[in-house]
Amino acid sequence: MRLDKDYLMEMELLPHFEMRRLVGGAATSSPTPAAQVVTEPAKVPAKPAIQKAAVMAKTETPRANPATPPIPINPARAARIGGLSWVELTGDIKDCQACGLCQQRQQAVVGVGAANGPWLFIGEGPGAEEDQSGEPFVGPAGKLLDAMLAAAGLQRGRDVYITNVVKCRPPGNRTPTPDEAAACAPYLDRQIDLIQPKIIVALGKTAMARLTGTDATMASLRGQLHHYRGIPVVATYHPSYLLRSLPEKLKAWEDLLFAKGEFDKLA
Ligand code: URA
Repeated sequence: MRLDKDYLMEMELLPHFEMRRLVGGAATSSPTPAAQVVTEPAKVPAKPAIQKAAVMAKTETPRANPATPPIPINPARAARIGGLSWVELTGDIKDCQACGLCQQRQQAVVGVGAANGPWLFIGEGPGAEEDQSGEPFVGPAGKLLDAMLAAAGLQRGRDVYITNVVKCRPPGNRTPTPDEAAACAPYLDRQIDLIQPKIIVALGKTAMARLTGTDATMASLRGQLHHYRGIPVVATYHPSYLLRSLPEKLKAWEDLLFAKGEFDKLA
């Protein structure tokens, strides 16, 4: 993938490269040394990452891992939630006591954005800032997510709805348990029914586990099209993980371009 200044700025990668250049450190964790950063119009074909992503793309849906059978969902509760309007759904989520996560929450975090947006991004669960503010992805991971969206020409609230697998903060920001994800599943399903997104981006393993039942590694899930209820799903790394891993930021950028390519094919 070409690394030009615009990409690096948009993905907040530029300071890492500049810092390495200033201190003369080796770019050990980077796939491309600072000296190779392209700062002028590159003599490479336009949008090479899209081409690369297209080559990466496979079309089959991965098999669910038999080691992770779906957790049974209370059918009566799921049917009731499946008939709720947006207003009713929001109230139901805010009052939910279906799992233990309700005990320590400040508030449930329903989601934010375009209620009919063509893009749906699904994270894992609210963190401390989200628990306080009531909006998903407002902390450091959220700032990175917004930068990623901007880099892809998308904007929170305009083209995108953002929510999480679980609507209440897991204590200490731990990964939600399968039971907690299952208790929240009817809410996410109803949100998907109401939004009817054209494409879903699953941010991290928890979202992919919820949508596909697989516990495969992100490395094996990305770069291919999955489906949930007939909607194309693209997998990428969770922004919190990206904050700690520079090379994966570049891969996440590839994933977004792949998702954009697939989205454009749908239009
Ligand atoms: N991480 C998530 O998965 N969701 C949020 O809303 C915030 C951080």
